[in-house]
Amino acid sequence: MQIIRDPDGLNSALAEFEGETVALVPTMGALHAGHMALVEEARRHADRVVATIFVNPKQFGPNEDLARYPKREAEDAAMLEAAGCDLLWMPGVEDIYPPGFATKISVSGVSDRWEGEARPGHFDGVATVVAKLLLETFPDVALFGEKDFQQLAVIRRLVADLNIPTEIVSVATVREEDGLALSSRNAYLSPTERQQATALYRALCDAGDLLRGGRSPEAVLAEGKSALLDAGFSRVDYFALVDGATLEPVTVAESGTRLIGAAVIGGTRLIDNLAI
Ligand code: PAF
Repeated sequence: MQIIRDPDGLNSALAEFEGETVALVPTMGALHAGHMALVEEARRHADRVVATIFVNPKQFGPNEDLARYPKREAEDAAMLEAAGCDLLWMPGVEDIYPPGFATKISVSGVSDRWEGEARPGHFDGVATVVAKLLLETFPDVALFGEKDFQQLAVIRRLVADLNIPTEIVSVATVREEDGLALSSRNAYLSPTERQQATALYRALCDAGDLLRGGRSPEAVLAEGKSALLDAGFSRVDYFALVDGATLEPVTVAESGTRLIGAAVIGGTRLIDNLAI
């Protein structure tokens, strides 16, 4: 696996893949089995797999965890190589945002609620960096995890609206045995919080069962929020039933709708979601 840290190096490395199909796996590092599932799926879709590691400052709010976001470059590179990644692009902040950089991509509508409301500016940062990474590498396909479900919907909208010729492929959330969705931020949880954190997926599954059994979403969602607070979460940002493409709230649970939740435990904010 080649590791590239400068834009010129990236262009010559990509030139070596001419005539082959390329899959892109954008990440912020601190890799886990969820990222490896993206690489594995990428290998099924293209001849070459390019991964990126870039902790994108523009998608972190002023009071968020940019400074303490876990960094494990050597470990990440070894995992990617073992998973069959061909090229790792690790730009610096000035490679992505050189002096004078003034463009911001805002995907309205699908970005507005939920994570967009809780983390103002977050999706502008995601959309801007993802557009930039796609335009730098021009992959045939790019892979994103369903764990960040709203992000996936934002990226699909972005790519469709800007006619970016990359197919967006989603990959199912990888979970611990007890159901907790893998996330780089799980590293922040204390052992007790780690135990309590399983309540998020449990609440989603319980709510899913009740909805499929015909209970009214209003009552089910209220019960889900209470269950999270009872389990030790200090705040529930949202626990909602939404349309899977637009992320607008819906009042009928049917195929294509999604349960989404975000809640804070200790100092850590966790998100998860479930298909109905
Ligand atoms: O999901 C992530 O890791 C990031 O939001 C992404 C897509 C790599 C953009 O920085």
